[in-house]
Amino acid sequence: MASTARALVLEAEARFVAADLHFGHGTDNARDEAVFLVFHALGLPFDCDEAALDVALPVGRVAAAERLVQARINTRRPAAYLTQRMRFAGHEFFVDERVLIPRSPIAELIADDFQPWRGAIPVARILDIGTGSGCIAIAAALAYPTAQVDATDISSAALAVAARNVAHYQLSARVHLHAADLYPPAPPAPKRYDLIIANPPYVPASERKDLPPEYLHEPAVALFADEDGLALVRRILVNAAEYLNPAGLLVMDTGGSWPTVDREFASLPFTWVELAHGGDGICVLRRPDLEKFARAAPGSR
Ligand SMILES: C[S@@+](CC[C@H](N)C(=O)[O-])C[C@H]1O[C@@H](n2cnc3c(N)ncnc32)[C@H](O)[C@@H]1O
Repeated sequence: MASTARALVLEAEARFVAADLHFGHGTDNARDEAVFLVFHALGLPFDCDEAALDVALPVGRVAAAERLVQARINTRRPAAYLTQRMRFAGHEFFVDERVLIPRSPIAELIADDFQPWRGAIPVARILDIGTGSGCIAIAAALAYPTAQVDATDISSAALAVAARNVAHYQLSARVHLHAADLYPPAPPAPKRYDLIIANPPYVPASERKDLPPEYLHEPAVALFADEDGLALVRRILVNAAEYLNPAGLLVMDTGGSWPTVDREFASLPFTWVELAHGGDGICVLRRPDLEKFARAAPGSR
């Protein structure tokens, strides 16, 4: 059995390739996946010294790494569920099978202060629709230290994970979790937001049978909408204007469904963000355009 971090990573990489695993939950190749799991087991930071890679390891550490590598191959569970940790927008979050593993490129927009689209619009109130682990709501709250953030999810199991992460970051005074169907309950008049951020389920249910097994460990309610994947996207678009301040922005992740979204809602002037760190499907829309769209295509909440 290998006895240094370097040897363990190389061995795990080869085994992942041989097992034909799928990588799409934070890494996109066998080497990075091996580093993620082996370093976690060894308690090594990703920016550790080269020299640390060649230190002889105690048997117990090697066995811990081996257990993770073996579990990844045998169960096809995504690595983040095995470590129960995932980084998003520079912060670490607790995750388990109750929530989608954070990976939305919206992290890049948060890091970029939503520029150039935000301009000088102050960000006092944010809504995160479909919060899952709470990663977007929390990262946004940390990026805008005076903002109030509402975060909704229809899954009470997901909200329990989000609550754990909100408590970890001591943000309960600013991040408010709501069990709700997309938008928070709004009697008598809806609250208005400067920024609505959404990463809704958008995978067509018809594609479920073709997905690699790793995705089937994630909650179905986090991935799949209806047959064409657009049901929730449509409702978010139709209702966003009602919840946005006049200069407010909707930022939504539609992933690989973006060409369908662009075609299906052709009357909306989508800006599709060019992402420096890869990925696609993030759109930005402004309230006046969403208002026009809602008037022409009224929908239900
Ligand atoms: C793609 S996941 C995004 C999770 C998290 N925001 C992230 O980016 O990692 C979609 C989330 O939307 C939630 N969801 C699904 N249908 C919903 C609905 N009708 N109303 C509110 N949330 C919903 C799911 O439970 C899931 O947590």
